[in-house]
Amino acid sequence: AIDISKLRDQSGFVTLDIGYKNTGATKSAITFLDGEKGILKYRGYTIEQLAENASFIEVAYLLINGELPTEKQLADFQYEISRHTLVHEDMKKFFDGFPSKSHPMGQLSSLVGALAAFNPESLKSGLTTEEVNLEIKKLLAKMSTVVSWIYKKSLGHPVVYPQNKYDYVTNFLYMTFAERTEDYKVDKVIVDVMNKLLILHADHEQNCSTSTVRIVGSSDANLYASISAGISALWGPLHGGANQAVIEMLEKIKNDGGDTDKWIAKAKDKNDPFRLMGFGHRVYKNFDPRAKIIKKACDDILEKLGINDEVLEIAKKLEEVALKDPYFVERKLYPNVDFYSGIIYRALGFPTEMFTVLFALGRLPGWIAQWKEMKENKEPIGRPRQIYTGDTTKEYIDIKKR
Ligand code: ACO
Repeated sequence: AIDISKLRDQSGFVTLDIGYKNTGATKSAITFLDGEKGILKYRGYTIEQLAENASFIEVAYLLINGELPTEKQLADFQYEISRHTLVHEDMKKFFDGFPSKSHPMGQLSSLVGALAAFNPESLKSGLTTEEVNLEIKKLLAKMSTVVSWIYKKSLGHPVVYPQNKYDYVTNFLYMTFAERTEDYKVDKVIVDVMNKLLILHADHEQNCSTSTVRIVGSSDANLYASISAGISALWGPLHGGANQAVIEMLEKIKNDGGDTDKWIAKAKDKNDPFRLMGFGHRVYKNFDPRAKIIKKACDDILEKLGINDEVLEIAKKLEEVALKDPYFVERKLYPNVDFYSGIIYRALGFPTEMFTVLFALGRLPGWIAQWKEMKENKEPIGRPRQIYTGDTTKEYIDIKKR
């Protein structure tokens, strides 16, 4: 095979693959994905095994450090993270400046970017491995606090300070849902489903936001800036924003009388920009293994919480019809992870606009692992080429004569 990177000096040699449909941008030892067979593995472990058995913080350790932790390593990791969950009080002044209705993703990308400013030690050049690892733990810790702040703001409630005695997910749920500190009990069923959801989102090789993190980091931008850029990339409805878009679509179909056939017809109509949100994937052309796991988790949690959600019935009907329809079958369009995640978040009490923020919380270890790998591999700055299609030379005309 030709090693294209070796051809860099041969000016004029440019491969064109808009959207990088068939172009690899890096070598990576983190996540394996077989879109035809519907296989997803983190560091060699299937997503099914991890979602069934592991905690989110254990998976974060695996992604970032390459191996599953021992009991002691996990306890140390959890302990060190819990020491950094407090966010500088001055950040609150900045946070308070957001209007109460500002979109949670806009708040999140700004707050994570601002963490660099509040951690000037992270900006030093030539950080040691230990210093980088410390910043990673700080980011993991502070992200959960900041996400809970954003949720509290959406309600107009005061923030709840972290409790170091809790594990990562329990502490997050505590800061998010506790109203009075003393008597709040986090429900184990909810902790379990939250762990599962975050694990399913934790990494997905070179997707749009992860590639963004790597490319921004490749300029030697700091960790917080790189992750903040990834959060912005995730916001788009064709990527992480799809989980919000799915619920909005299902609500719309419900309010329109629940006629799923009508909406399927719209999705197939090439003159209609409407797409069935939560369907299709750039890489999975058989099924999304995460969707299988999440669908079951969704049924379980709704049953356990005794929730009868009409929107879920519409989702099931849409899936049933679409899976038989030649348009979707021929194009290999199956429900993806976001088709179900929103229904669970909703059942847990999160407002729709928070869904993509929760995706970001889950994806954080993956982004960090990819950023770290890119640094360790000493990858060159990412800088794609182009095929120029604009005008050739033109003569400048004075503004008064144009
Ligand atoms: N509804 C209707 N038609 C669709 C859909 C959909 N959801 N997705 C793809 N198609 C059609 C396209 O119109 C195209 O048809 P054509 O060949 O007749 O022109 C064909 O299927 C291929 O679609 P592309 O857009 O070329 O596929 P691509 O790989 O570029 O896009 C994407 C993948 C962005 C996920 C797309 O399927 C989509 O927009 N889905 C809806 C949004 C969504 O759910 N995004 C979440 C992705 S998962 C994640 O980020 C976690």
